[in-house]
Amino acid sequence: MTRTPLIAGNWKMHKTAAEAVALARAVAEEANRRPDREVMIAPPATALFPVAEAVRGTRLILAGQNVAWEEKGAFTGEISPLMLADCGCAMAIVGHSERRHIFGEDDAMINRRLKGAMNHGLVPILCVGETIEEREDGRTAEVVEAQVRAGLADVNPESGRELVVAYEPVWAIGTGRTATSGQAQEAHAHIRAVLAQMFEKDIAAEIRILYGGSVKPGNAAELMAQADVDGALVGGASLDAQSFAGIINF
Ligand code: PGA
Repeated sequence: MTRTPLIAGNWKMHKTAAEAVALARAVAEEANRRPDREVMIAPPATALFPVAEAVRGTRLILAGQNVAWEEKGAFTGEISPLMLADCGCAMAIVGHSERRHIFGEDDAMINRRLKGAMNHGLVPILCVGETIEEREDGRTAEVVEAQVRAGLADVNPESGRELVVAYEPVWAIGTGRTATSGQAQEAHAHIRAVLAQMFEKDIAAEIRILYGGSVKPGNAAELMAQADVDGALVGGASLDAQSFAGIINF
């Protein structure tokens, strides 16, 4: 089974619209040079429209950093899947650890968001990962499995192909501390085994599982060389065209 590597940049709360357009143009050039990889960026919502205009016709994929479950309504501060699609997005991140830990999103809400995205044709990237306390207690596999099962609850097995999972240990995000390639592979293999129980085995074999947490040009190749690591979800290093290009070309 060959899974096309997906290199995804999560810009978080960074970049004005003008800065975003300049960076997106540079990333799109790199994406066009690598037809063997998929490249995605999730700019802040305020920059989505101008970025979509600037990269139209390129291979660069746009994503929302989060997504609501309803098309419209009284949901102050939220962005609907319809609105993301309208801005040219094909994907949406759900369950990022900052949403879970800073903004209190729980598995049930993340599951609603994920299904909302899928119902509107957006490919969700479901983020899961353990805290340092959970790892030190030896609970990594259990915590990650519970997040995968709850996040994907009630997803039609046939739709399983249309999703991406990102393993992002909380202790590795923005800390400069990366999981070793062995730790990443162990978690990814476990996630794939859980996916095989939830969906068909051949569907689980098609689902891309990204690693996230302090991915840099210098550590990307070793992580990507692991059998079940199918790409990266990159925060800090995606904010600079050169460093993100170093990861795209791992
Ligand atoms: P980082 O963030 O690359 O800055 O550690 C990763 C993420 O939050 O997706």
